[in-house]
Amino acid sequence: MQSVNDYYSAIQLRSDRWSSLREATGALGRDPQGKKADALRSQIEELFTSLALIERYWAFPGMQAFDHLRRQFEHGNLDDLAFGVHRVTRALTTGAYRRRHIPLDRESAEVDDHEDEAMLSPEARALTKPYFEVMIVDDLNEHQERWLKTNVGRMRRFEDPFMYETVIVPSLEDALIGILFNHNVQAVVVRPGLRLKSGVDLPILKRYLNRVGGAEGLEGLKPENFGAELCRLIASVRPELDAYLVTDRSVEEIAGLDLGICRRVFYNQEDFQELHLNILRGVQSRYKTPFFTALVEYSKQPTGVFHAMPISRGKSISRSHWIQDMGAFYGPNIFMAETSATSGGLDSLLEPHGPIKKAQELAARAFGSKQTFFATNGTSTCNKIVVQALVRPGDIVLVDRDCHKSHHYGMVLAGAQVVYLDSYPLNDYSMYGAVPLREIKHQLLALKAAGKLDQVRMLLLTNCTFDGVVYNVERVMEECLAIKPDLIFLWDEAWFAFARFGPTYRQRTGMNAANVLRERLKSPEHAKAYEKQAGKLKDADDEKLLMTRLVPPPDARVRVYTTQSTHKTLTSLRQGSMIHVNDQDFKGEVEQSFHEAYMTHTSTSPNYQIIASLDVGRRQVELEGFEFVQRQVEAAMSMRKAISTHPLLQKYFKVLTAGDMIPDAYRESGVESYYDPHQGWTDIWECWEKDEFVLDATRVTLAVGGTGWDGDTFKTQILMDKYGIQINKTSRNTVLFMTNIGTTRSSVAYLIEVLVEIAKELDDRLDDASNMERRAFEHRVKALMEDLPPLPDFSRFHDAFRSDKVTIEGDIRTAFFLSYDEKNCDYLDLHGSINEAMASGREVVSASFIIPYPPGFPILVPGQVVSAEILAFMRALDVNEIHGYRADLGLRVFTDEALAQRMGTKLPEAAE
Ligand SMILES: Cc1ncc(COP(=O)(O)O)c(C=O)c1O
Repeated sequence: MQSVNDYYSAIQLRSDRWSSLREATGALGRDPQGKKADALRSQIEELFTSLALIERYWAFPGMQAFDHLRRQFEHGNLDDLAFGVHRVTRALTTGAYRRRHIPLDRESAEVDDHEDEAMLSPEARALTKPYFEVMIVDDLNEHQERWLKTNVGRMRRFEDPFMYETVIVPSLEDALIGILFNHNVQAVVVRPGLRLKSGVDLPILKRYLNRVGGAEGLEGLKPENFGAELCRLIASVRPELDAYLVTDRSVEEIAGLDLGICRRVFYNQEDFQELHLNILRGVQSRYKTPFFTALVEYSKQPTGVFHAMPISRGKSISRSHWIQDMGAFYGPNIFMAETSATSGGLDSLLEPHGPIKKAQELAARAFGSKQTFFATNGTSTCNKIVVQALVRPGDIVLVDRDCHKSHHYGMVLAGAQVVYLDSYPLNDYSMYGAVPLREIKHQLLALKAAGKLDQVRMLLLTNCTFDGVVYNVERVMEECLAIKPDLIFLWDEAWFAFARFGPTYRQRTGMNAANVLRERLKSPEHAKAYEKQAGKLKDADDEKLLMTRLVPPPDARVRVYTTQSTHKTLTSLRQGSMIHVNDQDFKGEVEQSFHEAYMTHTSTSPNYQIIASLDVGRRQVELEGFEFVQRQVEAAMSMRKAISTHPLLQKYFKVLTAGDMIPDAYRESGVESYYDPHQGWTDIWECWEKDEFVLDATRVTLAVGGTGWDGDTFKTQILMDKYGIQINKTSRNTVLFMTNIGTTRSSVAYLIEVLVEIAKELDDRLDDASNMERRAFEHRVKALMEDLPPLPDFSRFHDAFRSDKVTIEGDIRTAFFLSYDEKNCDYLDLHGSINEAMASGREVVSASFIIPYPPGFPILVPGQVVSAEILAFMRALDVNEIHGYRADLGLRVFTDEALAQRMGTKLPEAAE
C-alpha cells in the first residue's frame, strides 16, 4: 500500500484504496487457498481499516453497506465480497450511484445490470435528476442516526427536481473535513447536538482543518456557539454551499451572531418537510440559469423573422444548395437560438432588465462581487472598458509592463500618464515573474514626494501571470492603500476565473481580498493597529516605509475591479468574459462613466450563445466548481510528479518549481517545490497564505532546452506536428502546459507517454551520434540553457512625453498618435543605422509597440527610449513573430524633428 504522503489529495487516496481493495478481494476470491492468500488477507484488512476513516464522509456506499462488506470478509464470504467491492468501485468510477440505487448483492444486481453507464447518451443524461449529498452535523448513536435518515428520506417526492442522500457526521471539525473532502455536498444541516472535535486521526484529512486557520482558534468556543461558528467557517471555505441551522437558542441570541452562509434558522428540530423543501430550493437557486433558459424557451416559439439575421432559425441554410454541411455540422438548435430580437423573453446586454440582468446578478453572487458585467468579446475588451470608465486623461496609472496588450491600448485610449512597473526577470528561462511589492511602494512614494499622489488613480496588475505567478493580492492592496487610501485596483484575472472555487486559490483573488478588506477596515482591532503604526511611522523615511508592512487607514476606500476570461478557464464559449466590481464608490462615482465605457466597446449585436454559455458556466461553478478545480489541481500535480520522478525524462526535461520561478526573497515560507520525491507533497496552503508570490500549480512550465530544441520548435515541430499536442506559450527554452477543468487523467498520461517517447528517441539518436554530432548537440543545449540574453527593464519615456524629470510617468497617447503622421517617423536598421545613431549620442525613440512572440508583451512602447539592453535583447531573439517590427524596413522611430517640436525646442544643429 502506498503511504499517505504519496497522495496529493484524499480524493486520490480514496479512489486508489478502492481499486486496491477490488484487486485484492478479486484475487483472494479466485484463489482463497493460494500462496498469496495470507498476504492478501492482511492487505484487505488494512484497506478496510483505512477506508473506514474515509467513508464516513460519503453517502455512497455509506457506512452501513461498507460495514456489511467488511463483515462478509470477516465471515469468509469471499465471492460475495469481491462482487460487492467490484460494484462499488465501478459505481464510484462511472458515477452510476448518482443516478440510481446500486444493489451490492448478486440477485438484485443481475436485474439492475442492464444499464451500462458509459453508453448513456448526452440526451439521456440530461434527463436524469442531478444528485447531491446533504451533510447533517449531529452527535448521534446508531439508532438515532437511522431514525434521522429515514425521516429525511421520507420527504422525497417523485416531482423533486433533484435527488439527494444524507451523510451524518458528529462534530464541527468533521463537518469542515467533510465539506472539503466530499465535493458532492451541497447543503449542510447543523443540529444542536454537534460536538467540537473530530475523532479521526488521518493527517491527510486533518490537513483540511488548516484551511480555516487550524483548530486552535476554536478551543475556547462555548458549545452553544458551535453551530453558528460552523456556519461562519463554512462560508469562508465553501461560500457557495447552503447551511441550515437547527437550534434551541432564542431568536434574540441568534440574531446577534455571524451566521455566514446560513440560509435559514429552524427552531423545530423535526420539521423535515420544511427542511427538505428549503434544501431543494437552495440548490435550485444555484441551478437556475435565467438567460440560458430564456433562450431555450425562445427557440421553441414559432416566430416569423422580419428583421436581421437570415441565419436565425436556420432559414438561410436549410434553403441553400451549397452550405448544407454547415447545418449538419452544428445541428439545428444553435440556429433556433440565433436571433437579433431583444424582446419575447430575451434581453439586451446593453440595457439589461430581464434574464441577462438576473444572470449577471447570479454571477455576482458566485464570484463574490457587488456587480458583474458580461462581455462577449473577451477580456481584451473588458480591460479597455474598466480603464476607460475610471481613468481620465492625465491620470497616473501604475501598470506592470508585461501586462496584456489590451492594457497598453487602453492607456492610449484613456490618455493615461503611465508608470511602467518592472517585474523581476527570470533570465534563465527568458521570462518575467511579477512586480515586487517593494517596487510598487517605491513608485507610489516617489509620486507622493513629487506632490502627485492626487493624480494617481489606478494600480493595474496581472494575476496570475501567464506563467502562473500569483500575487498576494490582499497584502498589495493593504500596503498601497496605506500610501494612497483611494487607489483603484484592476486585477487582470484573465487566467484566474477558476481560482474562486478552490479555497486555497480563492484567498488570492481580487474579489475575495476586497470582501476581506471591507470587513477588516471596519473592525475596531484594525483601527487600533492603524493608530499604533501611525504613531510609530510618524517621521519614517521612505526606506523605513518600504521595509514595513503598512496598515491602511480605517477610512481607506476599497475599490477593486477584476476582469476574467471565463472562456479560458471555465465553461464558456470563446470570448465569454466577465467584469467583476467591488468598489465602494461605484454607485456614487463610476456607474455613469462605466455605462459609457461599456457602450463604447460593446457590440450592439452581442452573441447570445456566448451570454447563455456564461450563464451555464456560472451554474456549473456554483455546483461543481469546487470538485472540478480540485481535480484539475490533482491532474497538474500528478503531471509534475510523473515528470520529475521519471529517470529518463529527468535527463532532458525539468518541471520548473516555485523555487525556480520565484526568488527566495519572495518565498517567506521557504517552500521550494510542491512535490519532493523524498518527502512527498507539501501542503500548499501555508505558502499561499504567506508568501509574496506563489506558483499556480495548474500551469506546468517545462524546461526543454536539454533536448536541444528551443521552446518554439519543440511546440510546433515536435508536440504539434508529430503528436497533435497543442500548447500555447513558449519561451526560449521552456514550454507551458496548462491544465484546465476539462483535463483528464488520461490526457495527462498521454502527455507523459509522448515525453517519454521523445526522450527515448533522443537517447537513441545520441547513442548513434558521431563525436561531432554530439558536440553540436551539447553546444545547442548550452546555448539554450546558459547563453541567454538578459531581459531588459523598461528604459524610460523620452522627455518629449514626460511632464517633468522627477517621476517616470509618460504620456503614451501623445506618442501613439504622433506616429500617425508618417513624416514624424523614420526607420532604423537593427543591425546598421541604429548603431550609428546611438553611437552619435542620439536618443532613439520608438514610434510603435514592438511585441515579440514569445514573450508576447511589448519590449518597446510608443515614446520609449531604445536602450542598448533592449537592442541586444531584440537581436538575440530568435523568434519569427515580432509584431510592430518589419525586418525589411527596420525599427520605426521618431525623427529628431518630431521630438524637438513636441518639446517646443529646436534641434541642437538647427539652433546654431
Ligand atoms: C493577462 C491577459 N489579459 C487579457 C487577455 C485577453 O483575453 P481575451 O482573449 O479573453 O480577450 C489575455 C489573453 O491571453 C491575457 O493573457
